[in-house]
Amino acid sequence: MASQGDSDECLIDVRNLSKTFKTGLFRRRFVDAVKGVSFQVQRGQIVGFLGPNGSGKTTVIKILLGLIRATGGSARVFGELVPSVRARARIGFLPENPYVYPYLTAREFVELSGRLSGMAGAAVRRRTEEVLDRTGVLYAADRQVRRLSKGMLQRTALGAALVANPEMLILDEPMSGLDPVGRKEVRELLLEERAGGRTIFFSTHILSDVEAQCDHVTILRQGEVVVSGSIRNLLRGEVLHTDVTIAGASEPLRRELVEAGHKVHERPDVVVVEVAGERAVAEMLGRVLESGAQVLEVTPRRETLEDLFMKRAL
Ligand SMILES: Nc1ncnc2c1ncn2[C@@H]1O[C@H](COP(=O)(O)OP(=O)(O)O)[C@@H](O)[C@H]1O
Ligand SMILES: [Mg+2]
Repeated sequence: MASQGDSDECLIDVRNLSKTFKTGLFRRRFVDAVKGVSFQVQRGQIVGFLGPNGSGKTTVIKILLGLIRATGGSARVFGELVPSVRARARIGFLPENPYVYPYLTAREFVELSGRLSGMAGAAVRRRTEEVLDRTGVLYAADRQVRRLSKGMLQRTALGAALVANPEMLILDEPMSGLDPVGRKEVRELLLEERAGGRTIFFSTHILSDVEAQCDHVTILRQGEVVVSGSIRNLLRGEVLHTDVTIAGASEPLRRELVEAGHKVHERPDVVVVEVAGERAVAEMLGRVLESGAQVLEVTPRRETLEDLFMKRAL
């Protein structure tokens, strides 16, 4: 086993994991929520766990935390088979729907989380102040939790996940309930935490949340992994095509563009032409300018995670 601080240390090792829920009155109905999922998270990485609603993300996370048991395969966290109390103690966890005692203040809730993790005295008070500041709710620290908005509650619960300074964060939809500014702030906070050496594993159903931020992704669909690997390898950054936006395109120019094999999209006041290949772009721009039309925008389109997911999942 690698030593602590070794960047090759595998903090989450999931192998062929399955979970079948028994439901219904006589527990005779089976729901295969997770079907043979495998992936790893190394120390120091930030890994996105993606997939549409119902694809099995929360189920896998609950198994990692020891809240429910797998029905097949195995999962190790910090090298220990789950469920493991010792592994759990080293994780800061943000549940999908955090339950926070409604009559505690935000400060009391975060302090309580710290005390439950073994912190005490001035240290827990100081650290509580620090994490509430980091998650942007210090100004509301003395408000009762029941008076907080969904976004503020989410930030308070994130503070509780951070308070004990855990080696690894496991966050189930940390950006949910936040407005666009809030999402950006939480994204930046995760990047800072990662820069400070924390390992982060978080789920989201929004693919673009992770593209700019994660080292690795694992994408689930209906309980199975459809895409997994480093973002750099998955999205090689090749230009798929270039979108050229043109104003004042005459009828003959439009015909010529279609005849040249480009896809032409009519929009109010403009046309957007999809051009494949860089040489074709230069040639096409020349023709457009000659005709007296205006080029408003030239945008190279690269493959996104969404494209990759659509390609693999369908
Ligand atoms: N306790 C449960 N009993 C029965 N089915 C469940 C239970 N929890 C989750 N499921 C089902 O398992 C599937 C995966 O759910 P979940 O892990 O919550 O997905 P996600 O977090 O990706 O939205 C869904 O079809 C869901 O309805
Ligand atoms: Mg979920």
